[in-house]
Amino acid sequence: MNKKLSGTYFTPIKIVNFAYNYLRQQNKDFSTVLEPCIGDGRFVDQLNRSARRVVGVEIDSAKIAELKNKNYEESVHIIHQDFLIYSKMCNERFSLIIGNPPYINKKNIRNEQLELCRTICKELLLPESIMKNMWVAFVLSSINLLEENGTLLFVLPTEFLQVQYAEKLRNYLEEKFNTIHIITFEEKMFPDIEQDACLVYLTNERDAPSFISYLTYYKLDSQTYNYKSKIERNKPLKKWSNAILTDDEIDILSIASSKYAKMGEIVESAPGIVTASNEYFILTKEEVSKYDCRDFVLPIISKSSMIKNKFEINGYAVNELANNAKKTYLLNLANTEKNNLPESLLDYLEKVAVIKRSNIEIQHSFKCSRRKPWYAVPIVRSGGVVFFKRYDVIPRLSINPAHIHTTDIAYNLRLPKHISPESLVFSFYNSLTLAQCEFAGRFYAGGVSELTPSEFKSLAIPYTEIDHNDTCELRKMLNNNARLDVITSFVNKRTLANDFEEHEVQQIERIHKKLIARRKRTPPPAP
Ligand SMILES: C[S@@+](CC[C@H](N)C(=O)[O-])C[C@H]1O[C@@H](n2cnc3c(N)ncnc32)[C@H](O)[C@@H]1O
Repeated sequence: MNKKLSGTYFTPIKIVNFAYNYLRQQNKDFSTVLEPCIGDGRFVDQLNRSARRVVGVEIDSAKIAELKNKNYEESVHIIHQDFLIYSKMCNERFSLIIGNPPYINKKNIRNEQLELCRTICKELLLPESIMKNMWVAFVLSSINLLEENGTLLFVLPTEFLQVQYAEKLRNYLEEKFNTIHIITFEEKMFPDIEQDACLVYLTNERDAPSFISYLTYYKLDSQTYNYKSKIERNKPLKKWSNAILTDDEIDILSIASSKYAKMGEIVESAPGIVTASNEYFILTKEEVSKYDCRDFVLPIISKSSMIKNKFEINGYAVNELANNAKKTYLLNLANTEKNNLPESLLDYLEKVAVIKRSNIEIQHSFKCSRRKPWYAVPIVRSGGVVFFKRYDVIPRLSINPAHIHTTDIAYNLRLPKHISPESLVFSFYNSLTLAQCEFAGRFYAGGVSELTPSEFKSLAIPYTEIDHNDTCELRKMLNNNARLDVITSFVNKRTLANDFEEHEVQQIERIHKKLIARRKRTPPPAP
């Protein structure tokens, strides 16, 4: 079966061994074990050494045939069934449920399985919106099969720790289990795929306070962790990836942030233009002359990589991009009668209309079919300051005096009169706001981070009027790719230092560095 459809990425043997040793260190009863998606039996091979009874479930008949050849002891029971069905009918309870559930995107899940997923949510009073991937159904169905103080240990995609759709699932798990361990590795678990993974250990200890512990190991076979932190106070924790901070550090961030207004309170912000197809609605300079449509285009920035480390975006920067054959002109045809358009442009639109993507003509695609005419891209207002929602090392906020449009790669900020764009951009580059970007946002396997519109609005900013010479200095630093700590220490002196002692600012700087190290998978800074 196709790997994407069956979600089959076998757990590295080093992780199987790691999990076995980890469980032994926990000194709990693991005498009855369930492996809900046994695959080739690698977890069972380890665990049947110490368990009294092991049940392994698998949907794939080829794997079942191979498992039968393994001649397991009588204590091991292999069941050929869909786990979603098995879990509904099973009356047995287990002291340990362990495995690496299939990662199957909702769009590839079969309809009858989706129906089962929906029932699971309904029964647990959870919204169906959390069912974006098969592993969610495996986690929820497994919990029902645990003994009272049983343990669940799963290999899960690291995105589980932070994606918004799984927030309700994380909250639910925090209610169910008083002991949560998140075990991460600096070495990649699945080097051949984008997806990063971690181990999640959930259990209940009698009379124990409830906590989330975050452990980092260098290698998949490391014996001791190189980093550990514990969250007891700041629960429920919106994003478990933030358990890398200590309670004290989270308190520092929230107390410091509470001193300042939030972005959403001082500026209006909204995503840029959604074209439905940047490739065809945004043209190069050459295409603009070819289709004779100079009067029907707007300058636009469509990729954040086009404008790197700029304090300001302006017409000059866009011209430079245009001269380098970059796509920088958006077709602006919403208010123009068709018969006023040049012949060559009409020919072009006729060709684009019937280009197929995922078997659907562009003119009939979800967004275009709602427009009249189909090529009338709605133009949203631009802003005097622009925030690029994805970033690598430093999030980017730039002044935009010419009000150049962007696609939805950026949020356009509209400022009230008393807020100066230069001062806002300058004030943004302080360690507290940047730490909050890391804390509030999510990051992808490659280390790139992203903030949703509401996460951006939640950022606290120590806005203050900044002297022109200082904004010029920051402009130079950004243009010259100055190091992040050089930038923040300069900005901190003009912003945070007005309200905090030096050692407090240093603490915030350290928290910021720690959060970046987590995202970039580099060792955390020394305490
Ligand atoms: C990621 S692999 C893990 C296999 C093995 N447990 C391991 O850790 O290497 C997921 C396994 O789940 C099986 N599987 C997929 N959907 C299933 C379902 N609904 N019920 C039971 N097994 C399923 C796949 O055939 C595959 O063997």
